[in-house]
Amino acid sequence: MSTKSASRHPQWGGRFSEGVDAFVARFTASINVDQRLYRHDIKGSMVHARMLHKSGILSLDELNAILSGLEGIQADIEQGKMDWSIALEDIHMNIEARLTERIGGAGKKLHTGRSRNDQVATDIRLWLRDEIDEITAEIKRLNHGLLRLAEKEADTIMPGFTHLQTAQPVTFGHHLMAWFEMLCRDAQRLSDCRKRMNVCPLGAAALAGTTYPIDREYTATQLGFDRPASNSLDAVSDRDFAIEFCSAAALLMTHLSRMCEELVLWASAQFNFIELPDRFCTGSSIMPQKKNPDVPELVRGKTGRVNGHLIALLTLMKSQPLAYNKDNQEDKEPLFDTVDTLKDCLRAFADMVPNIKSKPETMGEAARRGFSTATDLADYLVRTGMPFRNAHEVVGKAVAFGLKTGKDLSDMTLEELQQFSDTIKADVFDVLTLEGSVSARNHLGGTAPEQVRLAVKTALASGNY
Ligand code: ARG
Repeated sequence: MSTKSASRHPQWGGRFSEGVDAFVARFTASINVDQRLYRHDIKGSMVHARMLHKSGILSLDELNAILSGLEGIQADIEQGKMDWSIALEDIHMNIEARLTERIGGAGKKLHTGRSRNDQVATDIRLWLRDEIDEITAEIKRLNHGLLRLAEKEADTIMPGFTHLQTAQPVTFGHHLMAWFEMLCRDAQRLSDCRKRMNVCPLGAAALAGTTYPIDREYTATQLGFDRPASNSLDAVSDRDFAIEFCSAAALLMTHLSRMCEELVLWASAQFNFIELPDRFCTGSSIMPQKKNPDVPELVRGKTGRVNGHLIALLTLMKSQPLAYNKDNQEDKEPLFDTVDTLKDCLRAFADMVPNIKSKPETMGEAARRGFSTATDLADYLVRTGMPFRNAHEVVGKAVAFGLKTGKDLSDMTLEELQQFSDTIKADVFDVLTLEGSVSARNHLGGTAPEQVRLAVKTALASGNY
């Protein structure tokens, strides 16, 4: 990396009488961060150059020199042969200066009819669009794993919780399908963000448009955008898409953190509901017995940094007057780190989830311990004609008896149950078992194994996740 700042800046030094202070050059440069945009910057420049040729601004020779020059620069970058310069501030000016070095005069014409303001706004959109596609594919891989595991665990019974207190029995497959639903919404939000983002700022130039006979439809189409952005001031200043993306990312991380929390709890000796594969856990340097669920813990922790990036971007844009401001250069670090964090966390989850082993005995035992079929008993009494409030009271008394005697409802004899209501008959035991309880909730969205299998089948058939 060369840090020498030229006496007067080669690209914009004309009106200045001295070079930039060395510290200021370093302080204002973004090349260390935005070099990551090189492929998208080059792609944008190639299409811009083709458009300039089509509009009669560049000759065919100039266009060809620019295209092969840019190809050569891309190869240099990919082979680690590019000497990035702090004095040249950012990715855009580094590439342009290198192009002129390579091909001479034609290189100086590339910037006709554009500005770094519409250039950077285009680059980030192109880059983020690709990243959203990769992230969406990773969500799909995770969702596919969840569907397969849910299918396998459709009959496994565990306690369902509210307030983290045993509430009613549910199937593990049903629980996993709740995670699946959260992630489907995340994928939809990202696709929504991608649609709104997919407009092309090129042609907005610095802020007001340009006097050259440019063809904005051409550049937009060639770069895969749906249309050119409608207003030049908005085109260069808009970073809504970055905020929308980070907000969808924060929500996705929030969902992952909730899953992590459950995995950590379930893997503990106290719950003992699941076994995480050893390769996703670590040991302790002092306590030989430990197997720590590091991956879910770390993903849970990383939610904090993504939430932080969302706040950073919202604050970055707050009160910014139109149009482009240098503040916007600060959009990249939060955005880049959000993408990297999201991809790592999704990858960890997609690799880990299909390998979670359930422990049906402890899950079932826990469900039995917490009077989880109390609502089923109340519903049974209601079916005999008793008003629900009275049934609630009767079952409450039966639970109090169970607490005193250490018996679950299904452990009580018929005579014991009849102390609380003589409408209780021998068929009560059909509803008091865990299996009876879950399979009775056999309607769309219910926890019955049959419904879990149906939900999995429908999702797999539609491929829409
Ligand atoms: N490096 C700048 C950024 O990332 C590029 C645009 C700079 N434009 C300008 N007029 N200073 O936002």
